[in-house]
Amino acid sequence: MQHDRQVAIIERIFAHLDAKTTDMCPAIGLNPVEAYFSDAWQASERRHLFGDRGQLLGLSGLLRHAGDYLVDDLGGGSRLLVRTPAGPIHGFHNVCRHRGAPLVQAGGEGARAFTCRYHGWSYDLDGMPMKLHAAHYPPLAAHERQLAAIGVDEAHGLVWVHRAGAAATDLHGLEEELDAYRLQDFFHYQSRRLQRRMNWKMVIDTFLESAHFPFLHRDSIASLFIHSLGIFDAFGDHCRMVYPRKTIDTLRGTDPRHWDLLRHSIIIYLLFPNTLLIWQLDHVEIWRTFPDPVGDPAQCVAEVSMYIPQQADSDKARAHWDANMRMLIRAVDEEDFPVAEAVQRGLRSGAQPHLTFGCHEPGLIHFHQRLQRAMVER
Ligand code: FES
Ligand SMILES: [Fe+2]
Repeated sequence: MQHDRQVAIIERIFAHLDAKTTDMCPAIGLNPVEAYFSDAWQASERRHLFGDRGQLLGLSGLLRHAGDYLVDDLGGGSRLLVRTPAGPIHGFHNVCRHRGAPLVQAGGEGARAFTCRYHGWSYDLDGMPMKLHAAHYPPLAAHERQLAAIGVDEAHGLVWVHRAGAAATDLHGLEEELDAYRLQDFFHYQSRRLQRRMNWKMVIDTFLESAHFPFLHRDSIASLFIHSLGIFDAFGDHCRMVYPRKTIDTLRGTDPRHWDLLRHSIIIYLLFPNTLLIWQLDHVEIWRTFPDPVGDPAQCVAEVSMYIPQQADSDKARAHWDANMRMLIRAVDEEDFPVAEAVQRGLRSGAQPHLTFGCHEPGLIHFHQRLQRAMVER
């Protein structure tokens, strides 16, 4: 984040601290409970939110060197992505054009070509088949032989995938701010996949308010943060929440030219519709969440990935990042998500027609308003 934006946010935090306030919406938000369990609702989401829209895969460090490749099947379908020697990442459906076998089983490095384990068709990193036996396969049109491409965009250190030919994701004014983090320099440390019995949106909901910190996270992270204070800004469908750490008070009375918001807060970007990018002091987390591929709206698959500023090449460094991962899993997977699953079970009770988002929860209100708008607009 640019320094002038950091200073402006810190000034807003100090003003809220003095007035004992937080960023607010003018009205509460009511979210129909069907949004979390209705088959028809989820079918509409699949059409409007997960169809042509780009999906964030992660940071550029996932594929750092030429020949690095990965297989991504979160949320259904299987995609193969590879960093080419010329620099750009190429993406394909991970489906062999001969008889449809998955071409690659898992990620790796140093690829110059991919060979299908079923009958040995090989493809170069542009997806073109190599050395087909001419007698066995009389000329086929290129589009019948080459791997089916998917669209890949890499900018500001972020890698997005989308349908071939679809437009790149619009960041609505976050471009410079994300550039300032130099996300392209980060190294992928670890990813963990979670399957939960709750709607995919609950993964996002978990992070868009901090009012639950002093209750649900009383024994884990609550003591680190100022309670009930969040800074909200919208960027088109995306938004940013900043939750200040208690240490931010040490900046009072000091020279704003030296203020550093990144050391004194957690900064959460909702990259609409299903991704979170979280700045955590010295590292970055990416959360991706998808509806259950089988189609049950009350289940989701999610993945959290940790990216770190330098390669973890010592036991001490690995111990540090492992401890960070444990803290993250403890707070989210052991505290937030069990409650979210319990909420999911209660939604069908008939106790209420909607969930209530308070005026002090602008991130939640924004997220669900934008979801519903995207579902009717297109
Ligand atoms: S399915 Fe891949 S070579 Fe036959
Ligand atoms: Fe939480």
